[in-house]
Amino acid sequence: MKKRILTGITTTGTPHIGNYLGAIKPAIKMASEFDESFYFLADYHAIIKNSNSNEIGDSVKNVALAWIASGLDAEKSYFYRQSDVPEILELSWVLNCVTAKGLMNRSHAYKAATALNSKDEDKGISMGLFSYPVLMAADILMFDATHVPVGADQNQHIEMTRDIAARFNHTYKKSFELPEAIIESEKDVVLGIDGRKMSKSYGNIIPLLSTEKVLKKSIAKIVTNSLEPGEPKDIEGCSVYSLYSHFASKEELSELADDYKNGISWGDAKNKLFTVVNNELTPIRNRYEEFSSDSKYINDLLHEGATKTRVLAREKINSIRELIGIKTIS
Ligand code: TRP
Repeated sequence: MKKRILTGITTTGTPHIGNYLGAIKPAIKMASEFDESFYFLADYHAIIKNSNSNEIGDSVKNVALAWIASGLDAEKSYFYRQSDVPEILELSWVLNCVTAKGLMNRSHAYKAATALNSKDEDKGISMGLFSYPVLMAADILMFDATHVPVGADQNQHIEMTRDIAARFNHTYKKSFELPEAIIESEKDVVLGIDGRKMSKSYGNIIPLLSTEKVLKKSIAKIVTNSLEPGEPKDIEGCSVYSLYSHFASKEELSELADDYKNGISWGDAKNKLFTVVNNELTPIRNRYEEFSSDSKYINDLLHEGATKTRVLAREKINSIRELIGIKTIS
């Protein structure tokens, strides 16, 4: 059986260093351990949360560029836009028909949304939000991905994908592999400028593709305590230190830990953080700038990606259609 890794990023908002460290960089790195790798832009997931078409359009472009600029090898992998592979939506409907509503009722994301409502618990809840996990299952099962790297918050979606696959396999015939989640460990969680997990929904991001100046400003905004220069500081739970750990070498990290004991000022600690982040991001930023005005390049790349990906998708959906009785009349 082929080992296939697959991951997607929802195209809302600007790509940030949480996406880079949590999804893009590890997925690119892990690709060599797998027979095939799939990276895609989840633009049909994006419209669930965002109806601003300009924002979606910009985000698709920037997330695509984030992957490319970070070193994704589009020749060796399947790199595509979800909406360019309409077979995924077809599969999504088929899966909707075997998915228990009760399973969806238990979704953390859906429950969190209804919990905010008082009188009418369904206020502002679309069917898209409700069946979000089914579309995600279609993304994964379409290509029989065996491994899906995700943040801990997405683990439930992978479990649901397994449930849905098992239900389909049981109802018809074994057609789908049950995927395994590769969950980001607690210590790898990237903290945002307010100390919570970095996420576009918290508005606490540090952008990946910004200018040096904006990067510096975002780092300056990281919330710290009010200890003065000269007072020893604790590395435990400190976002500056935690972010530093993702970019620095072991030696640099233990040096910063010593600096903390010796009472480094927050300004100096943030300058050190800026230096390591900027060193890693500079080549990415340069490639981003090189490609960002070349929309033909990006469109061609995505077009080729979709063409290649649809060969697999068509084959899969044809066998599924046959199996459920949507076939030529005999
Ligand atoms: N739900 C994921 C997120 O918000 C994005 C996503 C969509 C995804 N489809 C996927 C991730 C399939 C992994 C596999 O982060």
